[in-house]
Amino acid sequence: MLLIVETGDAVREIIVEPGKTIAESIGPAGLHLDTRCGGRGTCGRCRIKLLAGVFRVAGKTVRAPAEVNGCQTEPAGETGRIFIPETSRIGRSGQIEAALPGAPRSSRTVLAIDIGTTTVAAALLTPAGVAATGGAFHSQFKFGDNVASRISYASGHPEHLARLQEETLRSIRAAIRHFPRLDEVAAVAVAGNTTMSCLFHRIDPTSIGVMPFTPPCREFPVRPAADFALPVPPGAPVLTAPAVSGYIGGDLVGGLLVTGLAAAKKPELLIDLGTNCEIILQTGRGMAAASAAAGPAFEGAGISAGCRAAQGAIDRIDAGPDRVKFSAIGGSAPVGICGSAYVEFLASARRNGLLNDFGRLERFEEDAGRKRFFRIAGELVITESDIEQLLKAKAAVRAGIQALLAYAGVPLEALGVVHLAGGFSTYLDLAAAQAIGMLPVLPNGEYRIVGNTSLGGAARLAADPGAMAQMLALSRSAHEIPLNSIPGFEDCYIDSLLLP
Ligand code: FES
Repeated sequence: MLLIVETGDAVREIIVEPGKTIAESIGPAGLHLDTRCGGRGTCGRCRIKLLAGVFRVAGKTVRAPAEVNGCQTEPAGETGRIFIPETSRIGRSGQIEAALPGAPRSSRTVLAIDIGTTTVAAALLTPAGVAATGGAFHSQFKFGDNVASRISYASGHPEHLARLQEETLRSIRAAIRHFPRLDEVAAVAVAGNTTMSCLFHRIDPTSIGVMPFTPPCREFPVRPAADFALPVPPGAPVLTAPAVSGYIGGDLVGGLLVTGLAAAKKPELLIDLGTNCEIILQTGRGMAAASAAAGPAFEGAGISAGCRAAQGAIDRIDAGPDRVKFSAIGGSAPVGICGSAYVEFLASARRNGLLNDFGRLERFEEDAGRKRFFRIAGELVITESDIEQLLKAKAAVRAGIQALLAYAGVPLEALGVVHLAGGFSTYLDLAAAQAIGMLPVLPNGEYRIVGNTSLGGAARLAADPGAMAQMLALSRSAHEIPLNSIPGFEDCYIDSLLLP
């Protein structure tokens, strides 16, 4: 069947094989729908418009015009025409930043890779410095937007495990496709959360998804690049950052190395703000770690107008009593709202009396189902149920920090530096995050935005022959505390749901 696909900037003709969904069929043409629920038809993020033709949608015949989920739709006639809105696509900017914090010196050419749940970032280091950085969306995303859905897809299906590994390798190849001198690479190092590291090695991660969340391994073998079909010399060793536990992965161990937190003599924190908020506390006498399930709200998932920080994303909002000020990345027309803007919305709307302390809108519009929302720009709105998700995410972060400090007997006043890692923190307005109670005010300390320390850790691992021993020592010296085992955690979480 011939499918004519319109996007905002182009019209393409794509041949669709019988039995394949539209989401599956348009991927090879470089059009990737946002299939964050893994194509189960539950997230509604892959919406497309049927402009002409007949289709089968979840087993039922549907004629254009109609709006449907692309993951559930197959063409049923000879030709069809569809429109894909910007908000239903991932990778639309084609640009994933791969900033490398604290690039180490390297006496040889090495490749560092950060395997994130949503993106893959890479850097090529040479004796002359950083020769290239690059990134790509992690195409495993089509199997769900979080590690739990990837684990569930892999579990009990060796062919799915192989598929997930292949998606990771494909994404790495995409991230480094323009890198020069790959034929000179003497070593490769990767870092990622424990599930991503397992999937990279095609190790079944099932045990990470069930109590007590024990990973199948915390340390990974050094293997030749040929095992991963990477476009570097086949004998180049591939090293993997070791993990602390099922949810404190090599990405965090990389952060320990890059920030120097492990060697701090006074209490310091490393916080990686993501779908899982991982926190490592250096008490001055040892390290304790915790993982708080913040959910993907600050990464733009599960929120009506949510998106990642990419071209067209609103990244700044000031909601005042009379007007809303906002700005979008790249200065283009807004296509969604990213996490940093949601934090600023909560702070400004609360400050200006538009939100009460329970997160209910004091000034709002209503839809036909009497659901309340606040309009930011055009069709981009923030609903009360969005606010509820955001409050849950910020409460998880705050309660995680407070419970870990309480567990270790470290008062807030004793904290020196708090290192904030992860892409979301790069755009975060610290004053707004403190105003909504997501991050505590530090009486005697300071926040430092440290960027992608997972990539920085991988770079150290690739460049420094002694780094693996250091990382192994770090991963063995930190221990994870289940937050729900800390007395007072639940109360703290409930208190933190309120807006100050
Ligand atoms: S509804 Fe299609 S991917 Fe979620």
